[in-house]
Amino acid sequence: MSDEKIWYAAEHENVAAGFKLAMRRLAATVTIVSTADDEGYHGLAATAVTSVSAEPPSILACINRSASPSDVLIQRGRFAVNILHADNAGLVPIFSGKIKGPERFNHGVWEHLDGVPVLVDAQAVIVCTLAEKLVFGTHTVVIGTVDAVRIREDIDPLVYQDGYFGKVVRQA
Ligand SMILES: Cc1cc2nc3c(=O)[nH]c(=O)nc-3n(C[C@H](O)[C@H](O)[C@H](O)COP(=O)(O)O)c2cc1C
Repeated sequence: MSDEKIWYAAEHENVAAGFKLAMRRLAATVTIVSTADDEGYHGLAATAVTSVSAEPPSILACINRSASPSDVLIQRGRFAVNILHADNAGLVPIFSGKIKGPERFNHGVWEHLDGVPVLVDAQAVIVCTLAEKLVFGTHTVVIGTVDAVRIREDIDPLVYQDGYFGKVVRQA
């Protein structure tokens, strides 16, 4: 394969469109970021989630300011990152727009932990207190310090790439 062919897409003149093509090549585990207020539970599917530091244990999520759970999460100051297992794939369309509001939580088995809803059969659950927030463009980067963690033993994360869901294949 020639270098020219490898870099074909990188020649994209429209940077925003090229950026989207590049990000479709960044495989990511799907999470549901969840929170709660007096009206009930709120949550959205999110892949823009990563660890920040082990000291203190902390995690960040990039949340679109137009997403309905966004204001609640910031006002409440507590949230959970539910890292999805391959078994949880059916929740993604529900938590990305097919169903609106707290009714999303009628799907999947949720319980209350430290004031936020957590998905019982998630790959892992990380409960956080909001420590910092940074508004950038359409999104707020929220950083949470970790209060509690719950782990499911079998490891089979739900991976999203190029508009498809997949699983990790372990190399020999
Ligand atoms: C696989 C996938 C990953 C997503 N990742 C994010 C993300 O990281 N941040 C975000 O704000 N929205 C993300 N979204 C979109 C939100 O889930 C969606 O905008 C949100 O559920 C809208 O909520 P609302 O209809 O209640 O406003 C993602 C959607 C999908 C399908």
